[in-house]
Amino acid sequence: MHRDFCVTMVEQLQGLRNCLYAEAEMHGPLVPVEPLKGFARRITDLIPMENPVRALSSLEDLRHYVENATLVPIDAARTKAVFGEGNARARIMLVGEAPGADEDRLGRPFVGRAGKLLDKMIAAISLSREDLFIANILKSRPPGNRNPTPQEIAAHLPVLYKQMALIQPEFILCLGKVAGQTLLNTLGTLGSLRGKVHDYHGIPLLVTYHPAALLRNQRWKRPAWEDLQLLQKLYRTGLAHQ
Ligand code: URA
Repeated sequence: MHRDFCVTMVEQLQGLRNCLYAEAEMHGPLVPVEPLKGFARRITDLIPMENPVRALSSLEDLRHYVENATLVPIDAARTKAVFGEGNARARIMLVGEAPGADEDRLGRPFVGRAGKLLDKMIAAISLSREDLFIANILKSRPPGNRNPTPQEIAAHLPVLYKQMALIQPEFILCLGKVAGQTLLNTLGTLGSLRGKVHDYHGIPLLVTYHPAALLRNQRWKRPAWEDLQLLQKLYRTGLAHQ
């Protein structure tokens, strides 16, 4: 009796397993999909439903998409796309404005004069590029380094959102007014945006001076240093999201 019961159970389990295999062949495996964490879900919600980046599931696929897509005319005019680079599991993400001439030539963010200063700023709070992910609002250089147009920002922003959703940083530091205004959806001046911690879809976001602005005006170095110290204090105390 007991043996018969066991045989029946085994047969039923084998049947169930075969059903699952057949189902998986038709519709893909029935493995539990890890639910997106709060920040990633909220950021993904900002990407329009029909935008192809929504469906991408790795930074490499996203990079490939960016390098091959022409979303706005500056994408056709660039030498190289500047996708961004750094640690794919970074706790801190830096967001600049757009590539300049050096970045356009090399396909890497912040490699010109402003980039050298940025390296010093990062080192001053005991970090290096390997600790961070550095990206820009735009992935292509606007000719003559003019300001990004609203159309260019609208076309490229979903890529940055997807980068954020994949990396899931704990903190974001915006470098300059364009990055701060774009992410915070405000026309506030840099002076009004810096020096405080903003809530960006549940994670802390700070805004500071763009390193290129610091090269032009020494007077902004002290407030920029204060912003960096505020960031350092936040990530050292581990005050993070969720
Ligand atoms: N300025 C930016 O905002 N980003 C870069 O990558 C280089 C200069």
